[in-house]
Amino acid sequence: MTVLLVEDDASIALVITAALEAEGFRVTHCDSIAERDRLIAGQRFDALVTDVMLTDGDGIETIGTVRAAAPDMPIIILSAQNTLDTAVRASDTGAFEYFPKPFDIDELARTVRQAVGSASRGEEAEEDAPVAGLPLVGRSAPMQAVYRMITRVLRNDLTVLVLGESGTGKELVAEAIHQLGHRKDGPFVAVNTAAIPAELIESELFGHEKGAFTGAVARHIGKFEQANGGTLFLDEIGDMPMQAQTRLLRALQSGSVRRVGGREEIKVDVRIVAATNRDLEPMIAAGTFREDLFYRLNVVPITLPPLRERADDIPALARHFLQLAAGEGLPRHQLSGDAADLLARQPWRGNVRELRNFIYRLALLAREDAIDAESVASLLQQAARSDGESGGALDLAGAVVEWLAANRPAPGTVYDAALAAFERPLFIEALRETQGNQLRAAQLLGINRNTLRKRLSDLAIDPAEVHRLG
Ligand SMILES: Nc1ncnc2c1ncn2[C@@H]1O[C@H](COP(=O)(O)OP(=O)(O)OP(=O)(O)O)[C@@H](O)[C@H]1O
Ligand SMILES: [Mg+2]
Repeated sequence: MTVLLVEDDASIALVITAALEAEGFRVTHCDSIAERDRLIAGQRFDALVTDVMLTDGDGIETIGTVRAAAPDMPIIILSAQNTLDTAVRASDTGAFEYFPKPFDIDELARTVRQAVGSASRGEEAEEDAPVAGLPLVGRSAPMQAVYRMITRVLRNDLTVLVLGESGTGKELVAEAIHQLGHRKDGPFVAVNTAAIPAELIESELFGHEKGAFTGAVARHIGKFEQANGGTLFLDEIGDMPMQAQTRLLRALQSGSVRRVGGREEIKVDVRIVAATNRDLEPMIAAGTFREDLFYRLNVVPITLPPLRERADDIPALARHFLQLAAGEGLPRHQLSGDAADLLARQPWRGNVRELRNFIYRLALLAREDAIDAESVASLLQQAARSDGESGGALDLAGAVVEWLAANRPAPGTVYDAALAAFERPLFIEALRETQGNQLRAAQLLGINRNTLRKRLSDLAIDPAEVHRLG
């Protein structure tokens, strides 16, 4: 069995050749695209193992000639440019497997063996234009795992559950799955299930008929129907009230929705991507998240690493945000190596979002074009000070602005949605203080007890539950 290896780094080529020969393959090595095409035109190979960046071109962009000469030959792509873009382009060629460098040489040899075994099944190659303008930055190993998972869901409609701490990029991943996937020409509809008052959730998701309830002055098309033919992104799924979970589950099982006050079952064709920063398993155990809904959603879990576990990516992210800031009219700056290292050593509990906000502030405040470690250190100190002081009022204002940007409630619902987002943590805190006693919580808050009770029921907050979970 023969393998053609296209690799311009001689030492890597040597190692791969040795590993493949140990597996019983005969290896022909070349280091350019021109030579690759010449060899393929004259001879049949059982598999192609190819690097991407070659001296005379891009190994993925030029794969068409290989496909034309040998349509069924499995292709295995190696790349040092470990971006989502490369992973996606590799999977678009119908490549058998994509290996970000550095990779495990034995795993590569095993994969070549499997690829040769499966070639007889003759997979169809798809030729897509390379995708530009990808939003995800970072080439660390944990992000590589994320990119691989993303590429695996682009050609199908499997339900994806995106998990990870706040600010790790869950929404960005959901958008990337839509933009790169086969539904990209359909709508992408995002709905933040935590931001909608409980009594409006069903109408938001499924729509309502005119006159279905007081205030339903016109027919309303819900998010499911709006997303027909595209992707529905259910964000903050862990904060969804129980009753809405039940309705959601029913819609997912039947593939159809019924508008509130309507009779008709309306078929909808949507791809579901859900996200949460909550740990759902304890919630299932506590009875606040439906187990059957969890299994419906958790078909392909994609877990985003916290930024502290991929500190290697911080310099690239910081430079990316400086560029974005400049694109939005802030002064243009360069980041020194020391400054980038200092950023990489910070804990970033708010993950990429916190880093992004910090870099924007830096772009705004830095006096010199070149930002050095000293300017970073002084801004870090300032931030630590204002956190330590009573910075409360300032933080809340900032949080509102950020919350609005992140959640973009639908026009006409902004006030209610923002109020619900504000009241929820406030009430939970008050109930915690008072061990779930509503009378004392109302006194503490200085509001009428009946008002509190009504709002708790609107927000689907169960005081006994709050007390039990502490
Ligand atoms: N890998 C990345 N590359 C570039 N920007 C990123 C990346 N990850 C996150 N961001 C940016 O960080 C910010 C937060 O990301 P996002 O809103 O997707 O987080 P999230 O996980 O949905 O957070 P939350 O749980 O709070 O909703 C956004 O401005 C996003 O564009
Ligand atoms: Mg989010």
